[in-house]
Amino acid sequence: MRLNSIQLGSIFLAPLSGVADSPFRRICKRFGAETVYSEMVSSEGLSRHNPRSFEVIKFHGEEHPIGIQIFGADVGRMAEAARIIETTRADFIDINMACPARRIVARGGGCALMREPGLARDIAASVVKATDLPVTVKLRLGWDEANINVVELSKMLEDVGIKAIAIHGRTWKQGFKGEAAWEPIAQVKKSVSIPIILSGDIKQPDDVERAFQVTGCDAVMVARGVYGRPWIFKAIHAYLKGVAFDKPRADEILKTIVDHLDMAIDFYGEYLAVIRFRKHLLWYTKGIPGVVALRRAMSHVRTRRDVLAILEQILEG
Ligand SMILES: Cc1cc2nc3c(=O)[nH]c(=O)nc-3n(C[C@H](O)[C@H](O)[C@H](O)COP(=O)(O)O)c2cc1C
Repeated sequence: MRLNSIQLGSIFLAPLSGVADSPFRRICKRFGAETVYSEMVSSEGLSRHNPRSFEVIKFHGEEHPIGIQIFGADVGRMAEAARIIETTRADFIDINMACPARRIVARGGGCALMREPGLARDIAASVVKATDLPVTVKLRLGWDEANINVVELSKMLEDVGIKAIAIHGRTWKQGFKGEAAWEPIAQVKKSVSIPIILSGDIKQPDDVERAFQVTGCDAVMVARGVYGRPWIFKAIHAYLKGVAFDKPRADEILKTIVDHLDMAIDFYGEYLAVIRFRKHLLWYTKGIPGVVALRRAMSHVRTRRDVLAILEQILEG
């Protein structure tokens, strides 16, 4: 799919706060993720020049095309955040209207905007007006089963100049549980003429083929399905081309782990990088025979050497 003149492809890495930071996005890119998103960033934080928010939107040249995702509920602050992002060479801006977290929703942001369609439209319109970058939105199906409004809202957003819509096929009430419903996404696809990106339950390469067939969507996002296996993108491309995909060998997996860790250290410095890397280490090594005994140690690594020592034990074992 395209946004204006930018080719985005059709296999995306989903925005994942606390997981898909710049180092992990670079790893996913290398394995074939065609478009990536920043972790969501607060428009309040950006517009108040909070250094932590500027950390969140940092990215590497290797990550293009990249969308920076903003959240918030104030029309002016969201527009100001868009103006700031325009100075970063990001390729597009995405507005988060999907996050179910209480701390975000309680302040009217994320999925709470789906309950305030007028405000959602005003925010989208003001962000579109504030920037020359293409603006996209990420939605859920609605607040709960009795309030599924993704079709109406998508049409409103298209009317104010939103260039593509990503839809997570669950309601706010579902959070991240239960099966994602793709049928409403097919309805949106039939009701608007901008590209639609499907999110929810893309876990295996054949899910991608099914998502395209069932909904007619233009692109899909891999979210939790990428944990510990960024090569899923390569597997998806191989599946769609009808060629074989060989799961990476143990030495290739270990090389990916070390590359990822080293990029994280460059980005955060060793201490923070290793703390944040713990969950990735647990995911990468899940299912390797004999690794259960090392899981406690993995949750306590503090230095690059600690990580390498564990990887050595895995290789020996
Ligand atoms: C840990 C975690 C962090 C997430 N962070 C974001 C985020 O920052 N912005 C966003 O739009 N969605 C976020 N999501 C939602 C995902 O992008 C995706 O829509 C959702 O997980 C459904 O896909 P899945 O069933 O394939 O996991 C997050 C999900 C998880 C599990």
